[in-house]
Amino acid sequence: MATQNGSAAGKAPAYNGAAYPITDHTFDVVVVGAGGAGLRATVGCSQAGLRTACISKVFPTRSHTVAAQGGISAALSNMHQDDWRWHMYDTVKGSDWLGDQDCIEYLCRNAPEAVYELEHWGVPFSRTEDGRIYQRPFGGMTTDFGKGTAQRTCAAADRTGHAILHTLYGQALRNNTEFFIEYFAIDLIMNSEGRCCGVVCLKLDDGTIHRFRANLVILATGGYGRAYFSATSAHTCTGDGNAMVLRAGLPLQDMEFVQFHPTGIYGSGCLITEGARGEGGYVTNGNGERFMERYAPSAKDLASRDVVSRAMTIEIREGRGVGKNKDHIYLHLDHLDPKILHERLPGISESARIFAGVDVTKEPIPILPTVHYNMGGIATNYHGEVLTKKNGDPDYVVPGLMALGEAACVSVHGANRLGSNSLIDLVVFGRAAGLRAAELVKPGEKQADLPKDSADLSLSRLDRFRYAKGSTPTAQLRHKMQMTMQNNCAVFRTGQILEEGSRLINEVWSAMPDLHVTDRSLIWNSDLVETMEFDNLIIQAVVTMDSAVSRTESRGAHAREDYPDRDDKNWMKHTLAWIDDEKKRVNLDSRPVHTYTMTNDIQYIEPKARVY
Ligand code: FUM
Repeated sequence: MATQNGSAAGKAPAYNGAAYPITDHTFDVVVVGAGGAGLRATVGCSQAGLRTACISKVFPTRSHTVAAQGGISAALSNMHQDDWRWHMYDTVKGSDWLGDQDCIEYLCRNAPEAVYELEHWGVPFSRTEDGRIYQRPFGGMTTDFGKGTAQRTCAAADRTGHAILHTLYGQALRNNTEFFIEYFAIDLIMNSEGRCCGVVCLKLDDGTIHRFRANLVILATGGYGRAYFSATSAHTCTGDGNAMVLRAGLPLQDMEFVQFHPTGIYGSGCLITEGARGEGGYVTNGNGERFMERYAPSAKDLASRDVVSRAMTIEIREGRGVGKNKDHIYLHLDHLDPKILHERLPGISESARIFAGVDVTKEPIPILPTVHYNMGGIATNYHGEVLTKKNGDPDYVVPGLMALGEAACVSVHGANRLGSNSLIDLVVFGRAAGLRAAELVKPGEKQADLPKDSADLSLSRLDRFRYAKGSTPTAQLRHKMQMTMQNNCAVFRTGQILEEGSRLINEVWSAMPDLHVTDRSLIWNSDLVETMEFDNLIIQAVVTMDSAVSRTESRGAHAREDYPDRDDKNWMKHTLAWIDDEKKRVNLDSRPVHTYTMTNDIQYIEPKARVY
């Protein structure tokens, strides 16, 4: 169970195990992760003349950004007059006033430039008749501070992430980034002053250990969707950077906020883009009713994701689901012109055929809310610098460490992210990190000495799992974690269900010493590597559950039936969670939400009721 107000830094145990030869590397900057955020930061650091390594668990163009479908938001005004302030208003409201408004201003005002940069680098955006970047409507995106519906989401058909990722990889190669592909980052190297000095990795094709020393480490390792049973995330989304941060004695922020995407394909969880509703799709219940009209009279099917997911869940719970067991909902695209489907939604037309056996021109797609995004993660400012709470300073900057993308919690998404605000977050803050790196690090600058025991924590952990001879297979314990998260930390929550979830998830955590690892090889897909990923997931699962138990209000994606209202007086604050792995405890604290903007170009947007 969680306790309040405390932190626990895990001290590296002295390592007396097997001898692993270590290969050492030195760079100015090491970026961990080669998705959109990691690659954009990599490009910026390389362009600044910094010798930059990009380490990735998978081949860069297989990073999960590749799966992003519907688009990237920016107030370009291509379809109608638009304004970054309207985008900011929508993002603040979408975040249910948990987002930091200085950071949201930075995101929205820099979004157009970031999209034009991608265009110039070669992203093949879909086009309007007159050749401009095509923009589609997305949930929660409005004009004129909530008055109209905005078309702000720039799209490359429904394969926008794929197009961006491939373009950024090309740019990184062009700028001479050194890639370390299929290297699994295990742990951060922190010195006694609390500076991050590097990272220890396992090379997955030959099982060798590599120690990277750097003046700056940038974590862009993505989310931890695979802590749940059904997620749109790739199986590689195990939040490795988040877990490294927890093990380094630093906190994660706002982990109770987990986004369920309304339109995962029933059964497989495969994503059907919100762009499908942007192009005119709508959802119906078992009575054939377009029920979103009751829940969000203005925005209807294009209300923000938490609102649509809750509405769908209520319809199913009240017996108005579709199918034999009335346990899902239909998404209709069958009324749309097949030419539109072919041009703008080719990818999801194919996914619906493969994963649901549905021809979208003729039948509805069976769908269910599915875990999609983690609003919580590593606390940062808008330069990407990692924050912790230290000596009473809630915004203390951890030297030598940055975090970006879904791994980070800037916080621009607050309690609920708007669709298409993720891709823009990757490139705006990826670019910001490169700019900040150029200020902080000089090419070839002397580096801090590595602590003598710099690899001990990692090697002890590796050995612990490598020779784990208990009685519980990893797959069994992982399944229990995933089912507990799915059942006890879902779209709707109550104190009783969360308390039970906390007991169950802590049982899983405490059962780690009884693991049995069969395939002990240090290479891809072995039981050992999956166990290390599971070890990363379980600590994120416990902080998620315990943060959710603690927050006794409803805000954004955290919907407590026993506390149905938002409580700004007591809860307009970010949750911080640390772990003490030895004592198996979560320690909770908080830091204030930033209630100020970055410039005078816009005033702080005061909290109000959030209706769509
Ligand atoms: O629905 C989608 O295309 C997902 C976009 C996003 O999560 O930003």
